Amino acid sequence: MTIIVTGGAGFIGANFVLDWLAGSDEQVVNLDALTYAGNLDTLASLKNDRRHAFVHGDIGDRALVGRLLSEYQPRAVINFAAESHVDRSIHGPGDFIQTNVVGTFNLLESVRAYWSGLPDAAKGTFRFLHVSTDEVYGTLAEQDPPFAESKRYEPNSPYSASKAASDHLVRAWHHTYGLPVLTTNCSNNYGPYHFPEKLIPLVILNALAGKSLPIYGDGLQVRDWLYVKDHCSAIRRVLEAGRPGETYNVGGWNEKPNMEVVRAICAILDELQPKTDGGAYSDQISCVQDRPGHDRRYAIDARKLERELGWKPAETFETGIRKTVQWYLDNQDWVNHVTSGAYREWVSKQYEAEA
Ligand code: NAD
Ligand code: DAU
Repeated sequence: MTIIVTGGAGFIGANFVLDWLAGSDEQVVNLDALTYAGNLDTLASLKNDRRHAFVHGDIGDRALVGRLLSEYQPRAVINFAAESHVDRSIHGPGDFIQTNVVGTFNLLESVRAYWSGLPDAAKGTFRFLHVSTDEVYGTLAEQDPPFAESKRYEPNSPYSASKAASDHLVRAWHHTYGLPVLTTNCSNNYGPYHFPEKLIPLVILNALAGKSLPIYGDGLQVRDWLYVKDHCSAIRRVLEAGRPGETYNVGGWNEKPNMEVVRAICAILDELQPKTDGGAYSDQISCVQDRPGHDRRYAIDARKLERELGWKPAETFETGIRKTVQWYLDNQDWVNHVTSGAYREWVSKQYEAEA
């Protein structure tokens, strides 16, 4: 048996592949375009592992994807591949439309062609699982209930609009062609191998480097944080038992204002790696210009996943954030590798131009 994972050299996809192969002998074919966000170092432990086949390529390349499907005959395709950073989507939305919308369309067409040719039994058990985000639902006011699966889509950034479009395509391929799809909409992830353009790894690394910790606007925007390995376990559970055509929200009931998250990281660093000058890492916090169109609050109602499939997260925010900070302290080689070249260009474009 084989599964194909797309985007498996990125943050969540790579965690998924590593966790999958830690608990199963089923082969994983990992298709990734290795954009700035894809990093083979993350998969170094699988270098000589015959259960993992890495393929460098684009989800939109129908000839390549068609070949992979026919060669490996997977029982499932799990689509993580995407442009994922909101700030980058504001600077340059084109790549987001290309990968998230056009790429997903092409991938769906390749998968549909493969699936249509399967014998009836395999057709019935095949799954296309699309990994999406809570950002498609838009923003919440302080008193609003968390997003349920029935919440209207109201995306506000080029990133979330492109993900919303991809979710609609996936839905349509089920209703029109019968493709057995599953969609998961997850809240903010954090954990090992998180590219340091995102808030949590950026703050950990900037703190250690003695740089300022940039907080957009008043820092009171709320995100609902989930440890990445809990996201991976939710995807495995949905793949195993989710009903085709259904969407499942994934979240950890961990709503936190950004300022609180940053202060929590600083407090853990004060304890694990005290500053040599005796100061506090929180002294490095600096409020900077807000993100245009910044969504104020996200919160996920994950009761459907718990009720129907019995999934619950294993980590609280407190346990997960401590593990994460410790992981960055212990993995300087990985950090040094990803913070060269393209990463430095991004940081100067996003932050230093402003300073
Ligand atoms: P990421 O940016 O870390 O990784 C994306 C991966 O996709 C990279 O390895 C990149 O090389 C690859 N990729 C990009 N374009 C590609 C293409 N055209 N063809 C093949 N590969 C391509 O993203 P992530 O944070 O790991 O997110 C993975 C998925 O989960 C995305 O679909 C994202 O929308 C979704 N998601 C992310 C979060 C989060 O908090 N990070 C939360 C919910 C949902
Ligand atoms: O909600 C799920 C989404 O979470 C995923 O779909 C996205 O792929 C993922 O990137 C993430 O989006 P966010 O925009 O919420 O994540 P980010 O880490 O960029 O920002 C988290 C919050 O922190 C957000 O309110 C913006 C703020 N922020 C971010 C950065 C990078 C800052 O205040 N300063 C920063 O420097």
